[in-house]
Amino acid sequence: MFLRSQIGGRIFRTGVSSVPSRTFIPKRSFNLASKLQGLGRYGLIINILSGAYFGGILVCMGSLYFIYQDANERQHIPFWDLSLKQKITAVKAINKDDVLRSPRYSVKHYKRLLIDLYKQENPDQEIDETKFEVPLIDSNVLIYEKSNTFANFYIDIILRYSKALLAKGQLDASIYMLSSIINNDELFFRLGDTERLSECCRLLSKVTPNPEDKLTYLKRSILNIQKTFPTRIKLNDNYLLQDGSLMTDELMKCLNDLAFNYVKQNHSDEGLNIYFTNLKYIKSAQHAIADGSANQTNYPYFNADEQNLKILSVKIRSYISEILWSKGFKKNSIAWNEDIIEECFFEHSSSQPLTIILNQVLTNLITMYDSLHNLTSRNRCEKMKQELTNFVDTRLVDDWYFNLVNRFSRIIYHRGPLGIIEKPLLERFGAPNKLPEIEEMEDEDVE
Ligand SMILES: *[C@@H]1O[C@H](CO)[C@@H](O)[C@H](O)[C@H]1NC(C)=O
Ligand SMILES: *[C@@H]1O[C@H](CO)[C@@H](O)[C@H](O)[C@H]1NC(C)=O
Ligand SMILES: *[C@@H]1O[C@H](CO)[C@@H](O)[C@H](O)[C@H]1NC(C)=O
Repeated sequence: MFLRSQIGGRIFRTGVSSVPSRTFIPKRSFNLASKLQGLGRYGLIINILSGAYFGGILVCMGSLYFIYQDANERQHIPFWDLSLKQKITAVKAINKDDVLRSPRYSVKHYKRLLIDLYKQENPDQEIDETKFEVPLIDSNVLIYEKSNTFANFYIDIILRYSKALLAKGQLDASIYMLSSIINNDELFFRLGDTERLSECCRLLSKVTPNPEDKLTYLKRSILNIQKTFPTRIKLNDNYLLQDGSLMTDELMKCLNDLAFNYVKQNHSDEGLNIYFTNLKYIKSAQHAIADGSANQTNYPYFNADEQNLKILSVKIRSYISEILWSKGFKKNSIAWNEDIIEECFFEHSSSQPLTIILNQVLTNLITMYDSLHNLTSRNRCEKMKQELTNFVDTRLVDDWYFNLVNRFSRIIYHRGPLGIIEKPLLERFGAPNKLPEIEEMEDEDVE
């Protein structure tokens, strides 16, 4: 964040204050223009105009560079491996996806980039460009001829493309793209960032319709994480974490997803065991951190932040409660949920994710007490549910950096890079114009 605000601040300054804004006024305001004519000094006007010209170039480059830097921080863009056009396409895609939060509008750019990269390697091959399924560069080329940075970038772009395709409702194409990486042993086990690939697997596991596949992809991801940390990750054949094992964020997520799918597929004992083992790990981390015998340095690949541990623990406990209920252990199930409420209700307002889980837990409790005809407890839960804080997405309101980039981007798509200074100037002399949303500026599929 520090780096980010530094970059934001620096570019913001070269973009705006280094340009003498007065120099632009003559072009747009009759008042000042007539005053300047009164001076009758052509040299001055030429100076001002050339100042405006170079200032304009500076602002153009400054604001475009700003957007490039921002995209590059969100997703590293290999500078030397891409042509200028490809870089621009990549920046547009990442910017529309992450900053404008309009993945549907980024699909066309991701697709263009992937098609371009493919054609560069296979100039003779014809591609049907109307389809969302884009063929992949041969794995040997990626491994032996390309830089590591490029290969990682390529895989990241495919993951981003697949996610954006989902937002566009292109389920089949998304599954096709994801599985062409994940099912390719060469690519999957040798390239890309393990945690990113694991994210791919979890996504594919969520969207694939076949229940068997849901388990297969999660297990494949766990295998990949194990291969990345051989001997340090200790799991037994039932995917139960052993004492002294290393934990990573993605491993925890995969194991929890695996447990979830086991339960859904009528293997609730297997699922329950994984949940209990993971919960034990989290509790021991919580204890160790609370009594000072460990800190984040002891969990190099796992977010051991107090809040994160709490959320993980509460999530797992609420799942356990649901499983116990479905197995008929009603009293037990209610006790697990009441435990969560007792522990977290009075601190939930500091955390949006916690509030979301508590809302679910209270909803479950209401259903449970309903079915037991326990009106007193049901009403108590109903009342608590109404007291839950209503969160708006404060991230969008508070993050000045996010707002700045978002605004810059929309101006640039709307009016081009000079719009950054043109817009405030126009508004000084007229009514402020509302910046249109991306949906009002361009067609979703037209590049
Ligand atoms: C799980 O079991 C229930 C009843 O015991 C059955 O209705 C359901 O079809 C089963 N689901 C699967 C995926 O086997
Ligand atoms: C974390 O613990 C290590 C030793 O295990 C210690 O060297 C380090 O200073 C601690 N860091 C913090 C922030 O407490
Ligand atoms: C209702 O639920 C509460 C909390 O679980 C319990 O203490 C109470 O005995 C229950 N009341 C009835 C009538 O079952």
